[in-house]
Amino acid sequence: MGHELARYTLMIPGPIELEPEVLGEMGRPLYMHYGREFADFYRETVALMRRVMLAERARAVFLVPGPGTAAIEMAIGNVVGDGRTKIVVATNGFFGERLRQIAQAYAPPEAVLTVEAPWGEAIDPQRVEDALKRDPEVRAVAVVHCETSTGVLNPLREIAEVCRRHEAVLIVDAVSSLGGVELRFDEWGLGVCAAATQKCLECPPGLAPIAISEDAWALAQAAQRAGRARTGWFLSFRTWDWYAREWASWHPYPTTMPSGLLCALHLSLNKILQEGLEARWARHARVARLFRQGLRNLGFRIAAVDEAAASPTVTAAFVPEGADARALMRFLREELGIAIGGGIADWAPKAIRVGHMGPTASLNRLIPVLVGLEGALRAQGHAIEPGRALRGLDAFAGAQ
Ligand SMILES: Cc1ncc(COP(=O)(O)O)c(C=O)c1O
Repeated sequence: MGHELARYTLMIPGPIELEPEVLGEMGRPLYMHYGREFADFYRETVALMRRVMLAERARAVFLVPGPGTAAIEMAIGNVVGDGRTKIVVATNGFFGERLRQIAQAYAPPEAVLTVEAPWGEAIDPQRVEDALKRDPEVRAVAVVHCETSTGVLNPLREIAEVCRRHEAVLIVDAVSSLGGVELRFDEWGLGVCAAATQKCLECPPGLAPIAISEDAWALAQAAQRAGRARTGWFLSFRTWDWYAREWASWHPYPTTMPSGLLCALHLSLNKILQEGLEARWARHARVARLFRQGLRNLGFRIAAVDEAAASPTVTAAFVPEGADARALMRFLREELGIAIGGGIADWAPKAIRVGHMGPTASLNRLIPVLVGLEGALRAQGHAIEPGRALRGLDAFAGAQ
């Protein structure tokens, strides 16, 4: 007798509801994770990932078994793991704070500088520029693209421009943005892009894609040559590079590849490219805008202070005066079988977070959430006339 897990429709900011055919890939028989055929299949999946990241010129793209944090830790560890390279971490939420903690795990306190913005606000690229001007020794900057704790999308392209001007390598946590928001690795000159499969890449959790530019590679190599890098073995660029080259014909990665996950990713990347990146970014943006409108109809306040910085992939919102976020979430679970996310840290009692990623970036998934929240508010004694959540949203047919 084991524990029976309750099954909910996942509208949390990842993992998400998956297309049955992608999920079905996980049910294939296991394949040997090595041999020419599987090695070619891996490389084909990497090539698809390059197209989704728009990273054709990246020095390397790897698919690392593990959560998104594995790719983030790999990025920071290799670039600043020599214990000397200075890094600016731009933080405006829970995951930015985590970037700072990871940087502090590899670099001494004096080498980790911070640019901070309040939760709900975006990082101002000018502040990053000021920090780089103040300390010309800084060689790296780290930022979260979509800050999943607040639903704020940071201005990545502008931050990348600043980094280019100051010859600093930009490390991006794109865990909750890649596949749902515009991100152009080559064109914007990103240094390292770290992602995860379970969000807008519409796959189960378990693989951490990472793209590394020539500049980021050179910085990491310099640290390696000086014999100072402290990345250990599994997450070292050098290890992954060695297997990609020396065992290319049969085993181009250092450890066992989860074959079902790789099959699922291969299919989901093909689906993403079939939809078209630009069409996909537009779909996420449009659906997110309508969802925010529905929340405002109900008296929620969107946590992203500036509408222009509200993320197309996740919305965080403060509940109406007098409502209890946790009770709203419970109502959705119990009455509709829908799981949404709660606020993180101090925001727990007062905010909700909803993911609209890949297949869940659709009105067919989001309208039940809005209707459910409306019912939940009424159940908490708020006088809301039936249908208020969707008011104005009837313009959605054909709305751009
Ligand atoms: C922006 C961001 N970074 C990092 C992570 C951590 O990802 P993982 O749990 O796959 O390591 C998350 C997870 O929600 C995230 O949203």
